Amino acid sequence: MKILAIDTSCDDTSVAIVENGNNVLVSLLSSQVEFHKDFQGVVPEIAARKHLEAIFFLIDEALNCANIKMYSIDAIAITNRPGLIGSLLVGVGVAKGISFATGKPIIAVDHIAAHIYSPHLTQNIEFPYIASVVSGGHTIITKVYAHGQYEVIGTTLDDAIGESYDKVSKHLNLGYPGGPIIDKLAQSGEEGAIKYPIILLSGADEYNFSYSGLKTACIYNTDKYLQKGFEKTNENIALGFQISAIEPLYVKIKKYSEFSGIKNVTLSGGVACNSYLRSLFLGSSDFKAYVPEMKYTTDNAAMVGGLAYHLKDEAQYDDFTLDCSSRVLKKQYTLKKKK
Ligand code: KG4
Ligand code: ZN
Repeated sequence: MKILAIDTSCDDTSVAIVENGNNVLVSLLSSQVEFHKDFQGVVPEIAARKHLEAIFFLIDEALNCANIKMYSIDAIAITNRPGLIGSLLVGVGVAKGISFATGKPIIAVDHIAAHIYSPHLTQNIEFPYIASVVSGGHTIITKVYAHGQYEVIGTTLDDAIGESYDKVSKHLNLGYPGGPIIDKLAQSGEEGAIKYPIILLSGADEYNFSYSGLKTACIYNTDKYLQKGFEKTNENIALGFQISAIEPLYVKIKKYSEFSGIKNVTLSGGVACNSYLRSLFLGSSDFKAYVPEMKYTTDNAAMVGGLAYHLKDEAQYDDFTLDCSSRVLKKQYTLKKKK
């Protein structure tokens, strides 16, 4: 089964064609970074307009690259939540248009669920497992029972982890997006130079996260956390920030792994590109960690087309009443209800 997949949830226009869940025939992406970087963040209206400009060219190019005609496509997978509403509307509108013109069915896919699926594009991972999505919009830990069936264990109470990378970078005038820049700078930082607090939370929030305090500490209070004999350089700030941002993730996942007895852990979403995160988790002796290939770690449509294949039996196809939602996952979350 060949699925044409589209993701326009944020600022990357992505189109892919995926066969039977993991055979990626083509995966294309049109980045909007150039248009947003002057604002040091995604401008929703620009994002929606740029999706509209790029999307049909990208679909055409995907079909050409894979040497496939539209009539050989079996279904259209489209991200309809969560994300920027204007951006989501472009993708959903285009998916409906293709469906209307060709009669191909639509399968709606949740963006977070697609990130959770992304390591499956290249690896087999046994259920149940613990999945963490760490991106510009989300910081969550879930228990995954099967494709499309998740229980949210913890989430952020304020900023997402990627958002805090981007905001710290913005305030220090380091550039956009902040994640890769801070990651690179941190590699030249001196260990122990700046020790920001590691915010762990407890009680009912033992698996939840909070990043706004760390962000504020980095932007306004670095002097307080600078250790004697070290300098306040961007490299040292980056390293201190990165350790305090990623450490809670490891601590909480380890704790939940011990509590649940589940030893398989996946990490996906843009922050899972981070070099420190990858070495910490992949080198763990507490559990076995899986990450997607780099190209499937940040936003992409291959993960959407891959997951859609596994939803096609359980979920009935969507129809032209399909709507979008900016909402994030809620507790005891099941991707699609049977109609
Ligand atoms: O998954 P993604 O492409 O989009 C969302 O769904 O949000 O994630 C983008 C986020 C941005 O906040 C970006 O700064 C962060 O991922 N990111 C990183 C790295 N590469 C991207 N954060 C830390 N280290 C990186 N190497
Ligand atoms: Zn994403």
